[in-house]
This record gives sequence, structure tokens and C-alpha cells, in this order.
Amino acid sequence: MTAAAPAAGGTDVIRSPLVASVEGLKVHFGTKGGRIHAVDGVSFDIRDGETLGLVGETGCGKSVTARSFLRLVQSPPGIYAGGRIRFWSSLARRTGADPVDLLSISQDDLLDIRGNRIAMIFQDPGKALNPALSIREQVAEVFYQHRSDDLLYGLADDPPLIIRRAAGQRARGLERLLLKLPPLRGHAAKLRSRVDVHVAEALAETQIANPRKIMDSYPHELSGGMKQRVMIAQALACNPDLLIADEPTTALDVTIQAKILELIRQLQHRHQTSVLYISHDLSLIRQTSDRVAVMYAGRIAEVGDSDAIFSDPLHPYTRGLLAAVPSASHKRGGLAAIEGNVPELVDPPPSCHFHTRCPFAVELCRSLDPELEMVNGHGVACFAHASAEHLGVMPEELPSFAKRTR
Ligand SMILES: Nc1ncnc2c1ncn2[C@@H]1O[C@H](COP(=O)(O)OP(=O)(O)OP(=O)(O)O)[C@@H](O)[C@H]1O
Ligand code: SF4
Ligand SMILES: [Mg+2]
Repeated sequence: MTAAAPAAGGTDVIRSPLVASVEGLKVHFGTKGGRIHAVDGVSFDIRDGETLGLVGETGCGKSVTARSFLRLVQSPPGIYAGGRIRFWSSLARRTGADPVDLLSISQDDLLDIRGNRIAMIFQDPGKALNPALSIREQVAEVFYQHRSDDLLYGLADDPPLIIRRAAGQRARGLERLLLKLPPLRGHAAKLRSRVDVHVAEALAETQIANPRKIMDSYPHELSGGMKQRVMIAQALACNPDLLIADEPTTALDVTIQAKILELIRQLQHRHQTSVLYISHDLSLIRQTSDRVAVMYAGRIAEVGDSDAIFSDPLHPYTRGLLAAVPSASHKRGGLAAIEGNVPELVDPPPSCHFHTRCPFAVELCRSLDPELEMVNGHGVACFAHASAEHLGVMPEELPSFAKRTR
């Protein structure tokens, strides 16, 4: 399953330059019971300015895929077992420079990208924010880490070394003490007030009420929606090229959810940020995404333009997910859950991972692994859409949607 995800459809967004390309990504976990293939050969592209929705049932590997962009999967037990994630920053796109492979660049280069060129919003802002630090300190950290040159600009003709270290949050012990005394005190105060302006602006962008007051608050003093706005302020502070939003509204009630979705959309538009939007909720993905990648048991089952995926799904799993989404046209009792459970991902044999739940599975599906292949402009990993000649089997050995096997 290492085929690159195809660019589906013919819209401008699809033709825009690549921001990231995930190619054959494999992330495993070493456990006593064996090796869990949590992400097992995942490929997809994210293009400039688009939102790619990554959707699938719980445990299918969405978060592990997302965290791999910033190498946040804890190792051990996590193992990056294969593939690469190429990333083009806006600078690389402007200058035609080569992309970097996020899985192999140095830790220093990665820290330079993390929170700066690629930012992440997590599902539970309550856990992601540090309860011991004020909102000012948490948002300011992004500016200190990635915008220290901007903070110093025009502060003084030749800022003393200690002030330069303070702008990068590197001042320690005695240096911190000196910053409280003349002649450095004036510079330090100017630096702090400059950071405060940036923090207040970042918070104001999220339409949070009374940003200056919020800056002095601690996470436990804020509601879930406010905390999520703070995370968004933090994530977008440095105008990243790629925003990864991993279930950003799951912990919120529906009215707040709608406001946060709208906010992400507006900010994405204003900052021209590409977004990888992760959710198990197809209706949310439909609202947010230009293209959709459907993930099942560590693999991409289907990827393509959002309209095509929702109007003409090709993979039995995508069809099953859609049939299980409530809509106004569904009669009472008309929703169909997908039978069975996601399989164990411990040392899986070569097979279509969906075969245990698929009503069309045939012998071939139990012994061979379908590649992600292009069909009418979108990609699908299912033998029902494959060529018998290409696979070297008889046409009657392929599954057919006309024949249910269970
Ligand atoms: N630290 C870990 N140790 C062992 N296995 C892990 C670990 N973290 C994740 N996994 C495995 O990776 C699989 C994928 O996890 P992941 O968090 O990516 O799922 P998900 O699609 O984001 O699910 P959800 O919708 O519930 O957030 C899990 O089923 C689990 O088996
Ligand atoms: S028909 Fe076979 S290959 Fe296609 S989804 Fe079902 S089990 Fe997988
Ligand atoms: Mg998850």
C-alpha cells in the first residue's frame, strides 16, 4: 500500500502546489503481544490552501498519523517503521527548494518547524494546556521560540546579549536577576510589553472576549470553548503553512463546536493555511474538507475529492460509514451500522484489513493486500475495482458488489 494518493477532481485547490506528501508511512508499536501495525503504509497529499479531512473509526490510526508529522509518537513503544513525510514550507515553495523529510531531519530542524511552520490543535484543550502556566505565558512561548528576531526588531540599536537571550527565552539564573535591574530593566519591560501585544492580538484573532483579561487567567478558569480558542491562538500565532486539527471540537457541545469550526475556517482563509482535519464524524468532515481520506485499520481505504467521496463512494467501508450517518432522509431505524469490529493490528497477515467485515469479501481479499488505485479520479484500495489482468487472476476471482457473500 505505498501508492501515492492521487489528486482527485479538477478544482484549483487540487492543482495547487504540495505542502505535504505522506508516502508509505508505517508506524508500529512494540508490545509484549507482538508488533501493532497502527499505521501500515499510509499515503496522501495535502495541497496549498486546501483542507484534507482524515476520517475513520476509533483506533484506525488517525492520531498516530497526525502526530508523526511532528514526530510526537513516543518511542519506545512507537517505531517509525517506514515511509517518509515530505514537507514544503512556504519559503521552499517560493524558492523552489527541495522539501524536507519530517521523519529524518535533525531534532533542531524539527523544533524550528514545530509550532512555527506546522502547528497542531488537539482534541482535549484541557489536557493540552499546562495548568500551571497563565495563558499569557503559554501563548508567549510560541513568540519567544519562533519570533525572537521580530521581538527584538527596533527595540534598541544593538540589543545587549542578555536581552537577545531573553527574547529567545534563554535567559537563566543571574541573567534573569540582571533583567530586573537598571540599565537592562527598561529593555526587558519593552520586550515584555511587545510580547503582550502579540499575545493579545493572537487571542483577539480568535474572537475571544476580553483578550487582555484572558491573558492573566489560568486554564482552569476558562470554559472548554475558550480553552480551544487559546489553543487555536497558540497554533496560528506564527502563521503556519500547515495546521493539523485532531478532533478539535469533539470535547465541545454542538453550538460551541459550530463556532469553533467557523473560526478555523475563517482563520484558514485569512492566513492561507492548509489544514489536515481529523475526525471520526463524517458529517463534520463533509462541512470542513475539500478532499477526504478514509482510513481503516492503519490504511487508506479511499481518498478523493469531497463531493466524489460523498456522492459516489467506491469502498465498501466508506459506503458503510455513510450509511451509518443520520440524515433528514433516513427513516426511523434506517441507519445501518457496520457489522463487526476493527481487527487486531498485531502482526496482521497480508489481506484486505476490511475483509472480516466486508459483505463482498472473497478468497482473494483474505490472502492479498489491495493497493490504493485510481478509479475515475479518486483512489480506492479494493479488489472490486481492480483489474484481474493486472493482478494475474481470473475475473471471477475478483469480488463483485452485485454479489454479497454474507
Ligand atoms: N502508546 C501506544 N502503545 C501501543 N499501541 C498504541 C499506542 N498508541 C496508539 N496505539 C495503537 O495505535 C492504534 C491507533 O491509534 P490512534 O490514536 O491513532 O487512533 P485514532 O484513529 O486516532 O482513534 P480515535 O478516533 O479514538 O482518536 C490504536 O488502536 C492502538 O492500538
Ligand atoms: S471487496 Fe475485498 S478488497 Fe474490497 S473492501 Fe471488501 S474485503 Fe476488501
Ligand atoms: Mg485520535
